[in-house]
Amino acid sequence: MKVNRMMPWSERFVSLERSLHQLPFLIFGGAARAAYWLADKLVVTKIRLSFPNLPLAFDGMTITHISDIHLGPLFSLKHHFPPLLSACRELNSDLICCTGDWVDFDLDMLPEALKEFDTLRPEMGWFGILGNHDYHFNRWKLLKILRPWLKERLLINQFVRLKSGGESIDVCGLDFSVCGSRLLRGLKALELNRPDPGAFTLGLAHYPDVFDPFREMHRVDLMLTGHTHGGQICWTPLPEPPVGPVTENYKYCRGLYEVDGSWVYVSCGLGATVPIRINCPPEVTQITLSCSPSSS
Ligand SMILES: [Fe+2]
Repeated sequence: MKVNRMMPWSERFVSLERSLHQLPFLIFGGAARAAYWLADKLVVTKIRLSFPNLPLAFDGMTITHISDIHLGPLFSLKHHFPPLLSACRELNSDLICCTGDWVDFDLDMLPEALKEFDTLRPEMGWFGILGNHDYHFNRWKLLKILRPWLKERLLINQFVRLKSGGESIDVCGLDFSVCGSRLLRGLKALELNRPDPGAFTLGLAHYPDVFDPFREMHRVDLMLTGHTHGGQICWTPLPEPPVGPVTENYKYCRGLYEVDGSWVYVSCGLGATVPIRINCPPEVTQITLSCSPSSS
């Protein structure tokens, strides 16, 4: 006679409890696998933009734009840095700009990461700003590490005038803000710090939708941004406009936009807290500035 032996309730409970204990490990294990898989999917985007007001001395200047590194267990020095560093080395740009979210939640790996970044020596150096992860978690501790490395080029509502051949361009960086009085304070602080705007402005901001208020208060020729991770999950591949679960939340979500002669680039970024990306691969961008359409 066949007997179906049912597991006693006490054993079922122990089994369920064991499974629940394993759940975080299963989730983190899956996330780590997804993150390692993404390490090989890094794409390099190259863009050339023409600006009639770009000083001649800066014609052909190249900028490597990185964003949203989210340094942490899911964006590691061992697996994710080698492809990132080799892409940056190969691009060999004049300038490297990081538009925030240097870290995910903790700072443990940042000093070592900066040592790795030291091996990249762009002729015009680095610029950096803070993202929401840098702002909300360990801001002061992070500043203690990042400030000595970037010095005056860590732009918190500040600008630096880059000079070449008797001409100059301004690099302006906005502290992390999204909207409202905090954004307004940042824009006004920048205005006070830069009473005499230069001929050409390169803006850096983490949150892309500050592009409109930024260009309304300060003329900006090109703004580099991140934060959205390109939408992170999109049903439409590049270069089509992004369509996905969160893309409607942003006016500027992925790629290049032009408004009244000003440009904004929204990077898909490199890392993420949740390492799921569909049609939004981790990205390094190189932008070449050009003086006239004829040289494009
Ligand atoms: Fe981010």
